[in-house]
Amino acid sequence: MKTPLTLRLLPFLGIVALVIFFSSCKHEAMLPPIIPGVSDSICFETEVLPVIQSNCAKSGCHENRMSTYSQIMRDVTPGKPNSSKLYQVITANQSLGNLMPPSSNQPLTNDQITAIQLWIMEGANPTTCSGGACDSINVTFSKTIMPMVITYCKGCHDGSNSSTTLLLTTYDQVVAAQQNKHMMDHVLNQNGYSQMPKSAKLSDCNIAQLNKWISNGLPNN
Ligand code: HEC
Repeated sequence: MKTPLTLRLLPFLGIVALVIFFSSCKHEAMLPPIIPGVSDSICFETEVLPVIQSNCAKSGCHENRMSTYSQIMRDVTPGKPNSSKLYQVITANQSLGNLMPPSSNQPLTNDQITAIQLWIMEGANPTTCSGGACDSINVTFSKTIMPMVITYCKGCHDGSNSSTTLLLTTYDQVVAAQQNKHMMDHVLNQNGYSQMPKSAKLSDCNIAQLNKWISNGLPNN
């Protein structure tokens, strides 16, 4: 079981509150050093990279510019979210005119923004996390499938990518993609259907979870 994001933030919030309290005149609140073992860390590979790839690497945006760790690091100052261009643009006030994803797109979710912030605070390492718990038996649409689609697909399939009209933002749309648009053929890059997501194949576990949900009859649970 993964600890919910908000719980993982708690140790930081306490320390950040203290630091802000004692240095309230500083221009940028100094963030505390990471204390090993205080929180399990954000996984770059599954929690940061796919969000950036699907939201920031799409065509017309920054294709080929934000799809690898080293490219992303050009806009990141490890340990300092507030000094990192990546964090600035995902949290920028829309009135500044540089909100990323662009204002016509859906903004990132609060959980996605928090994960990126925490990842930068933790040192912005290219963490991978194979071996993490993966449950491909107890699969539900709301807890397994939709979060996966939000992370890996929605950035391009929310109406903001001019190269596709396919929407993947609701249960009905995901079901329709499977029933009418060969979703699993795209995910498996088989029978001539292009790789989805475009940048990298889903993990074996994610694929097993999709297969389980499909063989269960696409329930809305
Ligand atoms: C980086 C952008 C991007 C990401 C991320 C992405 N897609 Fe796509 N998708 C596209 C584009 C563009 C097309 C149009 C066909 C093409 O370019 O291959 C497409 C086409 C599709 C199609 C076929 C639509 C049709 O009209 O036939 C399906 C199904 C699909 N994507 C599913 C997914 C799923 C499921 C995910 C996540 C696991 C995903 N896509 C992630 C950009 C993306």
